[in-house]
Amino acid sequence: MRDSDCTAFLQWALPRLKRSWTGYRKVRRLVCKRIAQRLKSLGLADLDAYRRHLATRAEEWRELDALCGIPISRFYRDRGVFDALASMVLPALAAAAAPRAAIDAWSAGCASGEEAYTLALFWAVRLQPRFPGVGLRIIATDGDAELLARARAGRYAPSSLKELPQDLRSAGFEEREGTWRVGDRFRDVEFLQQDLRERMPEGPFDLVLCRNVVLTYYAPAIQETLMARIAGRLRPGGALVVGAHEVPPPGLRELAAWPGTRMIYRRHPVPAAPSGD
Ligand SMILES: C[S@@+](CC[C@H](N)C(=O)[O-])C[C@H]1O[C@@H](n2cnc3c(N)ncnc32)[C@H](O)[C@@H]1O
Repeated sequence: MRDSDCTAFLQWALPRLKRSWTGYRKVRRLVCKRIAQRLKSLGLADLDAYRRHLATRAEEWRELDALCGIPISRFYRDRGVFDALASMVLPALAAAAAPRAAIDAWSAGCASGEEAYTLALFWAVRLQPRFPGVGLRIIATDGDAELLARARAGRYAPSSLKELPQDLRSAGFEEREGTWRVGDRFRDVEFLQQDLRERMPEGPFDLVLCRNVVLTYYAPAIQETLMARIAGRLRPGGALVVGAHEVPPPGLRELAAWPGTRMIYRRHPVPAAPSGD
């Protein structure tokens, strides 16, 4: 399949799936490869035949939607986020969470678990000693069952760990025959299969990481709906982390950039109640 043909097909199909072509431009080859395999398994000659197939079989749009998942992730992605979480955000969340004894976190679109385990490890090694009375509960969701099975297995190729600082790597993993397994101490993550368009954990959360999912791959109308639902699951004063090239929709008035950080937004704290004096 020629790249130009697949590009034209994606530019036609993605908006119909309420997805964004701009987000897919750089990663289109992965999706094109899957579409080529799908054509082969359906016995279709080319993309024109596939368009006709889609026109007569509504259920095929679901198949095509599933081919559009991008599984790319890695441990400690965007290190600036973790620097800001350590220096400003997690200490503030820990102070607010102290009476409840735990920070509630959600990795939305967690792929194979890299982000959720990074957070567990990072908290245990770098933050927990400073906040001994506070725990971190992590829920991680994704729509893709295969990625979640990998997440639960917790075994990774060395390339996934390239950006992880050495102290976290030594503390967090056991290496066996070239595969790195997340240590049992850091596995207390609840993985759930949920499509964000249909279901989300109720929360409320102190910290939500929704990076390189909604704000990259979906069309603006869906972004607004989903990000409003996600922001609504944050506790007042809670933090939303987005991807390096992402910005929440301007309509989300309950969020403001977390001062001194990039990629992190804060849900406005509830205004103090009048003192009654
Ligand atoms: C590019 S990965 C990003 C992983 C991780 N958040 C990160 O930044 O490294 C996108 C992930 O979002 C998931 N995803 C995409 N759309 C989704 C949806 N509607 N519901 C749940 N998960 C979704 C994909 O299956 C994939 O695992």
